[in-house]
Amino acid sequence: MVKICCIGAGYVGGPTMAVIALKCPEIEVAVVDISEARINAWNSEQLPIYEPGLDGVVKQCRGKNLFFSTDVERHVSEADIVFVSVNTPTKTRGLGAGKAADLTYWESAARMIADVSKSDKIVVEKSTVPVKTAEAIEKILTHNSKGIDFQILSNPEFLAEGTAIQDLLHPDRVLIGGRETPKGQKAIQTLRDVYAHWVTVDQIICTNLWSAELSKLAANAFLAQRISSVNAMSALCEATGADVTQVSHAVGKDTRIGPKFLNASVGFGGSCFQKDILNLVYICECNGLPEVANYWKQVIKVNDYQKNRFVNRVVSSMFNTVSGKKIAILGFAFKKDTGDTRETPAIDVCKGLLGDNAHLSIYDPQVSEDQIQRDLSMKKFDWDHPIHLQPSSPSSLKQVMCVWDAYEATKDAHGICILTEWDEFKTLDYQKIYDNMKKPAFVFDGRNVVNADKLRNIGFIVYSIGKPL
Ligand code: NAD
Ligand code: UGA
Repeated sequence: MVKICCIGAGYVGGPTMAVIALKCPEIEVAVVDISEARINAWNSEQLPIYEPGLDGVVKQCRGKNLFFSTDVERHVSEADIVFVSVNTPTKTRGLGAGKAADLTYWESAARMIADVSKSDKIVVEKSTVPVKTAEAIEKILTHNSKGIDFQILSNPEFLAEGTAIQDLLHPDRVLIGGRETPKGQKAIQTLRDVYAHWVTVDQIICTNLWSAELSKLAANAFLAQRISSVNAMSALCEATGADVTQVSHAVGKDTRIGPKFLNASVGFGGSCFQKDILNLVYICECNGLPEVANYWKQVIKVNDYQKNRFVNRVVSSMFNTVSGKKIAILGFAFKKDTGDTRETPAIDVCKGLLGDNAHLSIYDPQVSEDQIQRDLSMKKFDWDHPIHLQPSSPSSLKQVMCVWDAYEATKDAHGICILTEWDEFKTLDYQKIYDNMKKPAFVFDGRNVVNADKLRNIGFIVYSIGKPL
């Protein structure tokens, strides 16, 4: 029986391993983490992350061939294949601060693997890492190996949150990079056999290590670039009277461009796009390619511009001040169908409005008040540390109230900002909401989810992204 161990029971490690366990009943899968709270949650009825379909998969396999444990060393030492899916945040200090990937968690995992291993292992990079990380990991492992053979593979993950289970069950592709040596190729074959339980062979791409590592950064950069492109167009649409939805529809109909990922928004969020592009920029700079670095940096700059533009529009349309005014924030997660708030544009928008002394009443169906208060109190890039290091009860911001209902959030508000595209925001009783708001009642739709004409007929003043007033 092949044994798999995954270090890191987060958004990637948990769902990925649950699907491997589901599809490979003869493989024993252990997911381990240093965070006891996270492991306890994985073993409970209330999983630590919200992801459609995840509950069912975990319940089907947990206790049979899927185990969650804090006994990191035992499971690593028993495993044939060790996935490493720990966080790889942006460095906050020292060389490369604000750009380079912080590999502290990765390095400590690698040293621990070297310490506890008694048999040959395949070590799989599941985390997103800078190009050439495998070389560094190889050095750590082989210099401490006591004669054990370690084969390093790069197998980056392409799942998106909110659709993780579907993405894992039906991936566009699985990418495996390894050394071009007989042992390296054998290791690739072993991992390919795992995925071949449910992914067709032609969808499994095998490359060298550096291509696999770079492809992950490149894929995220291309995806984020599309959003910044359409968001840049949205500013021009607002200035000219064009409608960004019509423009992106017309552009996306070109089969060479395609229709996906062209929704204009308040800006992209999520734990990876910004972090991975900054990391790519840093790698370009380190390799003496400043023009390439500047090209990708612009994707982040446009994203920051879009978030600032949104805040400025709210303040300027509300007679140049939101001081003392109640603003309802509908949606705080970085996208719908997740409770994840990492790098959500809502943080920048809320901080911007608080800077102008607004009073915020926030509602999100999946995000807790604790999380929101923590996000609004934290410094940039400080969020990506194992959850056990974060303070459990941050001091609350007095101007921020969190409520569990969109109607409560909007009561007596001067304006509404829609920051996540939750389906329920499309079907709210906007007449009832209008009746209970201060007038003039403003709606700033950061996700283009409401029917603006219908709301205008009710009496709202509506600002959408990239659309005529
Ligand atoms: P996460 O923060 O949710 O999970 C990481 C886990 O690793 C944490 O629970 C932490 O406690 C644990 N950990 C850290 N160091 C450890 C150690 N030495 N031993 C044991 N456990 C340790 O992060 P995530 O969102 O799952 O992302 C993990 C990696 O996958 C990152 O590199 C990210 O860029 C990449 N990725 C994320 C996504 C996504 O959608 N979130 C998608 C693709 C790739
Ligand atoms: C993204 C990628 O889609 C995954 O392939 C990748 O594995 C992952 O990053 C990662 O490496 O972490 P994720 O961040 O979970 O996945 O979610 P996306 O659906 O990509 O959305 C990212 C952000 O872009 C969200 O804030 C979303 O609202 C925004 N977005 C997306 C837009 O503003 N417009 C769009 O058209 C699409």
